[in-house]
Amino acid sequence: MASRMSDPGSTVPAGTRLLPADAEGLAAAAAILRGGGLVAFPTETVYGLGGDATDPAAVAAIYAAKARPSFNPLIAHVPDLATAQREGAFNDEALRLAEAFWPGPLTLVVPASPTIRVCDLARAGLASVALRVPESGVARALLSAFGRPLAGPSANRSGQVSPTRAAHVREDLDGRIAAILDGGDTAVGVESTVVACLDGPARLLRPGGVTRDRLRAVLGYDPAGPAAADAEAPAGPGLLASHYAPKARVRLDATRVEPGEAVLLFGAVPPEGWETARASVNLSPAGDTTQAAARLFGALRDLDATGVGTIAVAPIPRQGLGEAIRDRLQRAAAPR
Ligand code: TXA
Ligand code: MG
Repeated sequence: MASRMSDPGSTVPAGTRLLPADAEGLAAAAAILRGGGLVAFPTETVYGLGGDATDPAAVAAIYAAKARPSFNPLIAHVPDLATAQREGAFNDEALRLAEAFWPGPLTLVVPASPTIRVCDLARAGLASVALRVPESGVARALLSAFGRPLAGPSANRSGQVSPTRAAHVREDLDGRIAAILDGGDTAVGVESTVVACLDGPARLLRPGGVTRDRLRAVLGYDPAGPAAADAEAPAGPGLLASHYAPKARVRLDATRVEPGEAVLLFGAVPPEGWETARASVNLSPAGDTTQAAARLFGALRDLDATGVGTIAVAPIPRQGLGEAIRDRLQRAAAPR
């Protein structure tokens, strides 16, 4: 089965520096951040567009670089739960989730605490704050070198597919940010699960790297949400229906591939007509949703790069990371 997970070269663009994830690169990245500059950095989920979360000017620069609507609040990355508790107020459920899944692909939305340093602009003026303790070694090293909360939306232009390797960041943000810290391919491949722990029971705002089953095991119930993708009434401030979108049209749950389409395959049984597809990538021939998540965004970018008009997507089960994969694909397929 054709696999087109291309290996891009490593030419350094003018303007945006590509930094290796070694001691020197990390020190250079931390210095840029302390000076109010922007550095894209790898996490275990996707690359983040890092800027000083305590500095409104740096946060404004993030919104500008992404061309992101300023009503969409950012995640602040911190090194540990103790630091997170300086920024936000953790109720019992938030504490249990943090203890179970941090460091890792979980973001908790909690009320801002009186000692918060994350600035208003990073929170889009909300009374809550989104906090995450990443697991990736490079992200952790950067947080420790920088020493402040690091704002980090995914390092793509707003509405585009999230980046899972340094070359993807460069495609979107070359010349718009100071540097990219290159940590290779990310492990999880889809963004963190976002859970709100505010008043009442915990709510799932965005499915992601921590599956619903794992949340249920800790909470003792299935969290409500996310709301159906609806452009008029986003579930979270940033959860617009059309998001993660390639240029090509995306057609879901395809049981046959039409002439001229590219196809995103999953599992051992391809849809009818796949042999004549313009291009194809199998996210996981073995039908493993964890492997599929890790390859999803790279595959969408690779198929999109062929210039095809439509990407047909084979049915993907909801189990495990399938919920997050289906959520991203639904947004990619939403009318724009
Ligand atoms: O895996 C990830 O979460 C990546 C890596 C870099 O950490 N980051 C990421 O950030 O995906 P971003 O900005 O693309 O997504 C953050 C999501 C958005 O949907 C935003 O609306 C939501 O979290 N969010 C942030 N603060 C919120 C708040 N106070 N209330 C509700 N939703 C919030
Ligand atoms: Mg994003």
